Amino acid sequence: MKPAPIKLAVVGAGSRGAIYAQYALEYPDQVQIVGVAEPRDFYRDHMVNRHQISPENVTNDWHTWLTRPKFADGIIITTPDALHAEPAIAFAKHGYHLLLEKPMGPSESDCRRIVQAVREAGVMLAVCHVMRYTPYTRLLKKILDSGQIGEIISVQHLEPVGFWHQAHSFVRGNWHNEARSSSMLLQKSCHDLDWLSYIVAKPCVAVSSFGSLSHFKKEFRPIGAADRCLDCGVAHVCAYDAKRFYFENLEEGNTDWPLNVITTDISEAGILAALRTGDYGRCVYGGLDNDVVDHQVVNLEFEGGVTASFTMTAFTKPRDRETRIFGTKAELYGNGNILEIYDFLTRETTTVSTELESDGSILSGHGGGDENIMRAFVSALTENNPEYILSGASQTLESHLMVFAAENARKQNRVMRVDHDQLP
Ligand SMILES: NC(=O)c1ccc[n+]([C@@H]2O[C@H](COP(=O)([O-])OP(=O)(O)OC[C@H]3O[C@@H](n4cnc5c(N)ncnc54)[C@H](O)[C@@H]3O)[C@@H](O)[C@H]2O)c1
Repeated sequence: MKPAPIKLAVVGAGSRGAIYAQYALEYPDQVQIVGVAEPRDFYRDHMVNRHQISPENVTNDWHTWLTRPKFADGIIITTPDALHAEPAIAFAKHGYHLLLEKPMGPSESDCRRIVQAVREAGVMLAVCHVMRYTPYTRLLKKILDSGQIGEIISVQHLEPVGFWHQAHSFVRGNWHNEARSSSMLLQKSCHDLDWLSYIVAKPCVAVSSFGSLSHFKKEFRPIGAADRCLDCGVAHVCAYDAKRFYFENLEEGNTDWPLNVITTDISEAGILAALRTGDYGRCVYGGLDNDVVDHQVVNLEFEGGVTASFTMTAFTKPRDRETRIFGTKAELYGNGNILEIYDFLTRETTTVSTELESDGSILSGHGGGDENIMRAFVSALTENNPEYILSGASQTLESHLMVFAAENARKQNRVMRVDHDQLP
């Protein structure tokens, strides 16, 4: 007999909450969204209507769910970075399994408290390191495990954030200020350090790092610029002109991210109003309290002497991450779609494509990782089998510790050891 669909409730029904909840609409036989906690009326109502959620499970304050018996199998926590630890710990203690957005929490102590709560409660935790779940990573991992490239000696990995994505999310958007969200390395590149840890499959022992906010500052504001792009005299020669960027999206017929982040009225008038009054219409050169880095490098040493270098930079053409893996038998290049392997013995290059045919669904984001992490979490709960989860408590704590060590290395200008003895 087919198992009954599992029941999930969403805390934080913004962009990410809506994406994971979409899985329930596509696979209603597997999962149902039965509750939502969200303080913003529009987003709460939107989720209620899409998922036909009963009024008794709709709230603007998730704390109310702690005063009643469990009404779902798991909770999807997609609140802003600084609001992950409190609900994660509370709901773990209440016996709910957790799908938790990355980063687990902005501080090491938050991460450790979450891991401890999850372990003590005996619930399952999947942290949304979606890059582990893509068909691309699965194939890459298979190739590495087959021994085709030999032992990994070193890795070079690039995260090309893209000039406009940086401006949208990390200069104007929710993640522009470290104290109010988290460091760039934690909020954006925790994916990459986690992925490197997964690919190398050895503990990271030491890190160094350099990086800063170099460009999106007042001193680089062009003469003739204004506080808002709509009033700017030099917008036509500025790559970061908000009007051009958001209107291009509108003209392409895109009604999802990034437009749905800046306004709930995705029309010409709605966008103009958002650019006139909100942060997304502000000049990237000053006037905002953005302080997260726009470029950073991290060097990593793994057990056995394997080395990796990681570069995150805003100043790129929009594209996928790129990786070179240098093995004893072959060199591998990957760009999120294509994998190319140059074999030292035969001197031949084999190319494999893992490109997905996108069906346009919001779940196809992150190279299929968004859909696959939901599938893994739902399967884990349905079959009561945590093996489906590739980004559980220990794996995530381990890679978050790499991030914290790298940030300390950058800020203190020294090499930091990653202390695995401290892993619970
Ligand atoms: N895995 C990924 O690749 C990925 C990508 C983007 C964002 N994220 C992470 O996902 C999280 C959410 O990001 P987002 O883009 O959906 O942001 P968002 O702002 O669109 O959504 C967050 C939602 O949480 C709500 N919220 C705020 N306080 C709340 C509270 N106390 N209780 C319940 N809801 C509350 C907000 O009103 C908002 O609707 C962040 O931690 C972010 O770093 C992960």
